[in-house]
Amino acid sequence: MSDRTLLSTKPIPSRDRLIFALDVPTPEEALALVDRLGDSVTFYKLGMQLFMTEGYFGLVEALQKRGKKIFVDLKFFDVPETVKNAVANLSQRGVECCTVHGSEAILRGAVEAKGAMKLLAVTVLTSLDRGDLDDLGFQCDVEELVYSRAKRAFAIGCDGVISSGLEASRLRSGLGEKLIIITPGIRPVENRPVDDQKRTVTLSEAFLCGADHVVVGRPIRQAADPRLKAEEYQSEIAALFAGVPA
Ligand code: C5P
Repeated sequence: MSDRTLLSTKPIPSRDRLIFALDVPTPEEALALVDRLGDSVTFYKLGMQLFMTEGYFGLVEALQKRGKKIFVDLKFFDVPETVKNAVANLSQRGVECCTVHGSEAILRGAVEAKGAMKLLAVTVLTSLDRGDLDDLGFQCDVEELVYSRAKRAFAIGCDGVISSGLEASRLRSGLGEKLIIITPGIRPVENRPVDDQKRTVTLSEAFLCGADHVVVGRPIRQAADPRLKAEEYQSEIAALFAGVPA
């Protein structure tokens, strides 16, 4: 699985390589956690749970005022024109990146409208395993499916993909250094489900397989001291990338 020589050498500030999934019920709880995390987290992923509250874009602005980077993870999927218009509106918000998935036409619509915002294609959710894919009617190998979706998305003009660490090395070696790879499903043990995430890797393994960023939610949020846990991850990342220009 892993080719441990694939550390991405893009000039990314080391602390921005950790993206924290801000999966909490309300904007108030979100901001309290952001303030508790302080400097230990510079990059936040805002997903569907907070989008279903009134304060999603107020929270985006509050985070931007604190100098934080934002990843809008709403996994856009609709007819191409609707996705294009949603992406066009979002591109005015000053966020770093967002997620989209679907057919070539959907991705093309999103690419046309993205402006300076980075567009990341969802490949295969890290919570899906072989059995889930059978259930959804996909007979092909998971790695093949991730690779072919990533290759298509990159060719169309997406900046990168969301991929499990288990497939990241194949993507990095096959699609090159320019592709942005963001890896969720970070857990203390590799490829062993402890919750709904099934195709998991450790934080170091994700980077050694070529990820540019990792997305971490519960391992930080549910830690006794989230800030300490985030700082532990930051130290691990700083050690891995020591000597790589930021
Ligand atoms: O809590 P946990 O570390 O599992 O959080 C992972 C985050 O990454 C969640 O917000 C989830 O929605 C998101 N995500 C994922 N797999 C993808 C895309 C996004 O787990 N393929």
